[in-house]
Amino acid sequence: MANTFVIRNKIKPFKKKIFVSGDKSLSIRWVLFSSLSSGISIAKNLLMSEDVMSTIQAVKKLGIKVFFKKNLCYIHGNGINGYKIKKGTIINARNSGTLGRLILGLLINTTEPIKLIGDKSLSKRDFKRITDPLKKFGATFKLKKNSLPLKMLGLNNPKPITYTENKGSAQCKSAIIFAGMKTKGKTYIKAKKSRNHTELLCKYLDLPIKIKSKKNYDLIEISEVKSIRPLNYKIPSDISSSAFFIALTALTENSEITIKDVNINPSRIGVITIFKRMGIKIIFQNQRIYKNEKIADIFVKSPKKLKSINCPSYLNSGAIDEFLIIFLVAAKCNGISYFKDLSELNQKESPRLKLGSKILNQIGVKTITTKNSIKIFGKPNLKINKKIEVKDFMKDHRIFMTSVIAALSFGSQWIIHDKNSINTSFPEFLNIIKKLND
Ligand code: S3P
Repeated sequence: MANTFVIRNKIKPFKKKIFVSGDKSLSIRWVLFSSLSSGISIAKNLLMSEDVMSTIQAVKKLGIKVFFKKNLCYIHGNGINGYKIKKGTIINARNSGTLGRLILGLLINTTEPIKLIGDKSLSKRDFKRITDPLKKFGATFKLKKNSLPLKMLGLNNPKPITYTENKGSAQCKSAIIFAGMKTKGKTYIKAKKSRNHTELLCKYLDLPIKIKSKKNYDLIEISEVKSIRPLNYKIPSDISSSAFFIALTALTENSEITIKDVNINPSRIGVITIFKRMGIKIIFQNQRIYKNEKIADIFVKSPKKLKSINCPSYLNSGAIDEFLIIFLVAAKCNGISYFKDLSELNQKESPRLKLGSKILNQIGVKTITTKNSIKIFGKPNLKINKKIEVKDFMKDHRIFMTSVIAALSFGSQWIIHDKNSINTSFPEFLNIIKKLND
């Protein structure tokens, strides 16, 4: 079957240098910020994945011109309030929670009704977390069971709000910042720590944002934005995509990898802290700052032994997209690993706590899961001697990629369904795997 991927052999030890694709969060944000700017913005190394293409389609529906020439993407913004919206506009976010949620913030002052739809997986995810704050600005919504499809009606003069975001959702925080940018007066957000790319871009663009950083949360003040200058940006590589190769190196003896030009924003490197505590040697080389974001080459060497971890919850938000692959590494650790306060994991493209645990059980690793935690009973000598089939995972791209890493690390015959799921975030994934195997 064309959409099924079969693996029969473990990967051989490797020593390689690789490039992974552009960061998804930054690619989507670049498209959205550029769509609001006055003039032409150009991006290099934009992630060419379905989530980013859906974002481009969405801004095109709002009257924004986008074109590609050679390896560059050009966006011709019409100014902060320059969206041209036709009657009956439907935006399809497909699989992208980031697009679906962030775009609603940008539509706060749109007086034409907009319909937002998504694929099966996105239509199961919570949108109340976005519509609640946007209702306080004055927008009205019709939703199906707190999710998509939804209808939104914005308003000419939104009211500034004060809001506490306590889920640690960067999507929620960013949607409020975007709405605040289009609202007269000052909007205040007390936001539990989460990735801060939106804030860093606002600062880089000299927008009227103020941030006070506390231990567990940030206090953000955003005022009305009058105009945004074009944003030329070279998107750094994605740490979430890199995490699969860090894990593969850690699980393959006598191996080393260097991953070039990765975004190591401190709000994204929970996975690095966790992996280091599990005994993986990881070094950031050639560190530099690019437009407020930290970039480095990541060097990884496979360890002799992997140690189990009792993961403190404060590391969760910085590793929220990486837990599936972290669980896989825990499967080979010496001892029991424990991860807690992870109810947000079940709010992703699939219920990842449940499905992550299912894969570990399939390969013979014992787990105990609750609604928000998992205990993994590691097996340092884990070997699989039966055929493994991975299917029915709601086309979650990260479950597919985690399964491929499991197959290459632990061996046996694997049949993994829904190969096309990687197109969401990392279409190049299997090509890079092939190069490591050469
Ligand atoms: C993202 C935020 C996170 C993350 C998602 C990308 C973003 O979601 O899981 O993949 O770019 O803002 P939440 O905001 O739901 O935590």
